[in-house]
Parts: sequence; structure tokens; C-alpha cells
Amino acid sequence: TKKIILDTDPGIDDAMAIIFAEASPDLELKALTTVYGNTDIDNAINNALYLKEKYQLAADVVKGASLPLSGIPKAPVIKVHGETGFGYIKVAKQTNASIDSRSAAQYIIDAVKAEPGEITLVAVGPLTNLALALQDSPEITALVKEVVIMGAAFGMNEHRGNVTPYAEANIHADPQAADLVFAADWPVTVIGLDVTKESLFTEQYLTDIKDSTQEVGQFIWDISQYYLEFYAQITGSHSCHVHDPSAIAYVISPSLFTFREGPINAITSGPAIGHTIQKFDQQQYMNDPWSPRRSHQVGASVQSKQLLALYKKTI
Ligand code: BDR
Ligand code: CA
Repeated sequence: TKKIILDTDPGIDDAMAIIFAEASPDLELKALTTVYGNTDIDNAINNALYLKEKYQLAADVVKGASLPLSGIPKAPVIKVHGETGFGYIKVAKQTNASIDSRSAAQYIIDAVKAEPGEITLVAVGPLTNLALALQDSPEITALVKEVVIMGAAFGMNEHRGNVTPYAEANIHADPQAADLVFAADWPVTVIGLDVTKESLFTEQYLTDIKDSTQEVGQFIWDISQYYLEFYAQITGSHSCHVHDPSAIAYVISPSLFTFREGPINAITSGPAIGHTIQKFDQQQYMNDPWSPRRSHQVGASVQSKQLLALYKKTI
């Protein structure tokens, strides 16, 4: 089994990913480190605590960043995930008794040092917690097994951005943090819009999960309703892209994906802020802002049918 820390801004598709990770016999979900993003940090932590209680998760729940590195607050994306992050489901205020007392960055540092080479960091929200951990303890780069990110878009399969024409939400929320994560000397796998938009949870698919499970399919269905209405407005169909669960699918079954290799930069200012660019050719250039950086892998294609079957079987 692979040990994972899931850094998350729950979030509707985040909840779908958390449930997937917990259900998978191939993964040990050690912690949910939370971050602002789809909703503010208080809702994010409340939603994580709610899932921990509801599904008796052994995972620690840890409070993370409330702001990007710039210190400038981001408005939560209410129109995608609802007022409190779970669409029409209003989660009651949870008791804070079971929150780990450390910051998310400190938790990540401690966990990685305690089990060198064992921990996969899976980040499905803005990358602020990972960047803070790197700034504090750069030596963790040698100790992490792998960093898996749901975020970014490289224009493959015609997918370029979702908050701006050229930026994906998790990178756009904190481009400085993303660039630190890409600059660091650790192996990063990016599961971006290039592949997550290739898989769809249709209304029929979600109905099948609801009808073939006990309570959990009903919960996924309930949180999905708001999300599907948002998608209906932009795509015209009651189907949602499979963002965060695709990152978990990669950790369980990397062979579902093909990749493009090369160093990555995130654009941190100007109209293309939050855009990501990868150098994937072997050419030598006179001026090469990628060259001191190591290569990372970016998901380029996905076997969607198999991914959807894996999700359904696991749930
Ligand atoms: C990403 O942004 C958030 O809305 C989702 O939870 C996902 O992590 C998709 O761009
Ligand atoms: Ca997310």
C-alpha cells in the first residue's frame, strides 16, 4: 500500500477524492491537510472533520493556509462549490477536538521526516501548504516519495484553463507557491485539466453509484447536485469533469495515464498569471528559464473508461 497525505480544499470533487482514497485497499490515507481554495479555510477544515467523523477516517485532520503566499485573500469560488464547499449540503459546525495542533506545513515536514521515502504528497488544492513546507525545510525534497498535483493545464487535448483562458484554479490561486513546488528537486506528477477534463461523471454514472452502494453513493450524489448545475451552465450537460479523483486514480494505477516529461514554470504575474509551461523538447536555447530545473511528468492522456470503472468499483 502507498501512504498518502492528501492536501485538499474540500470542495465537492475533493470529497469525491477523499472517499476514493479511503476506500482504496491500495492506499493508506494518513492525513487530510486542508487549505483555502474552493471555500475558506474554516469551511475546508469543517468539511474535512465532517468526513472524518462520518466515515470514521483514521486520517489526521490538519489546518493549513488561509491565504496564498502573497498574503492577498482570494474570494472562494462559491458558484462552483457553494457557500460552504459542499454544494447544497450544509455541514453543521464540527467540534475541533480532533484537529492536529500543528500547521499543515509542519505536519507534512514531520510526517516525511518520520518515514523517509514512504510518503506520497497528493495536492488537490492551491499549493500554499507544500510551498510553506519547502520554504521551512527544503531537505524534505529528498525524503518524499512523490508529489502528485491536481492542477494546471498545458493545452494538451485542447484544455487550457478554467478560471482564465490560460490558468487552472489551483495554480491561479497561488502561482508563487506553484512555482516553488515546480522548482524544487523532487519528483512531481501533474494531473491537470489536460487529463481530468477527459473523464466525466455523468448523471447516469452518479445514479449507478448511488444505487449500487449503501450510504456513500447517496452522499456523493447529494453533494454533486450543485456541481452538476454549475456544469450544466457551462457545458450544457449534467456531467462534471473528474478533477481531484483523477489524482487519486493515478496514485492507485499510474498506468491509466501517459506522460510528457520536462521542467515546468508557473507564470506569476501579468495576464497569463497562473499559466504553466513545460519545456519538453531536447533543444539547447541561448536563454532557457527552465534549464536549472529538474524534469517532472505531466499527464497527457488517460484511459477514461478504466478510470471510471476503477472509481465505481472502489466506491
Ligand atoms: C480544481 O479546482 C477546484 O475547483 C477543484 O476542487 C479542483 O481541485 C479544478 O481546477
Ligand atoms: Ca480541490
